[in-house]
Amino acid sequence: MDEVIAQVRSKLIDAQNSHDVDQVKAFYLGKNGLITQQLKALKDMDPDQRKSEGVRLNSFKDKVLVEIKLAHDKINRDNQARKIAAMDDMSVDGRRTWYGSAHPVSMALSHLSQFMRMHGFTVVDGPEIENEYYNFDCLNVPDYHPARQDHDTFYFEGIERLLRTHTSPVQIRTLEKQVPPVRICSIGRVYRSDFDATHTPMFHQMEGLVIDRTANFANLKYMLHKMVNDFFADDVSVRFRPAYFPFTEPSAEVDIRRGDEWLEVLGCGMVHPAVLEKCGVDTDVYHGYAFGCGIDRLAMLKYGLPDLRALFENDIDLLDQFRQV
Ligand code: PHE
Repeated sequence: MDEVIAQVRSKLIDAQNSHDVDQVKAFYLGKNGLITQQLKALKDMDPDQRKSEGVRLNSFKDKVLVEIKLAHDKINRDNQARKIAAMDDMSVDGRRTWYGSAHPVSMALSHLSQFMRMHGFTVVDGPEIENEYYNFDCLNVPDYHPARQDHDTFYFEGIERLLRTHTSPVQIRTLEKQVPPVRICSIGRVYRSDFDATHTPMFHQMEGLVIDRTANFANLKYMLHKMVNDFFADDVSVRFRPAYFPFTEPSAEVDIRRGDEWLEVLGCGMVHPAVLEKCGVDTDVYHGYAFGCGIDRLAMLKYGLPDLRALFENDIDLLDQFRQV
């Protein structure tokens, strides 16, 4: 039997293509093939002989089929190699499609809103065009507060409207519609007439507001610490500085340390009872904390930009660097 297998192999070595291989196959296994004929002859044998001869012939047939398959595979491989060799230059680049990527501010926005949702905050929206009532009055911002003056706020001429200077009006709009407990955050554009390395006239804030029976300053600190550490995926030094906001008492500003510098990224505090009362919230029962954070500043720190304005200049080469971030 080994001799015959050796014979099969030597015939297959000469095969140039799959047709040649099929010819060899037919020679042994075709209708009148060598093995086929012997298999046919089985029926004239006596039972014992038929059995042993049958086993022998079938295992032989299997071996031949394996040889045939190997020969086919080799021919296919050779064909493939020949095709590749015939190509001009395998090192030429394929055609590329240019994909855009998320803007660093968008990345920061989605990171933060996901964090807030995971901590039970509902994301709500508010208008960018506001009136003095929501932007200032209701937030306990007195007439004489410097933020009311023209150099900070963009007013519309002729109509009593302005571009919101912070996301805090959303606190009021929410409390008008919703009874406590309240746990919301709001992300969006805000506008101030400012322009230098750490200020742009349009920037993004995220407001957080929690009103319930037990909210306290420790909760606020915990949330903010956690948020900042999660955002930077790092143990970041955070500094709470006493501050003044008309709508929170006590109030604090929060700075983040990068290198040797501290940069202010958010304002926060316990919601002022005057604000809660204006919205009809019973201050004997409910307390709340709030914070407003500058998202562009956070993005600038996270991605190591020296100048905030770079975020809004649409320089593709600069933005392209954040593709993998
Ligand atoms: N609205 C404040 C600002 O823009 C930030 C702030 C929000 C402070 C909520 C306290 C509470 O500066």
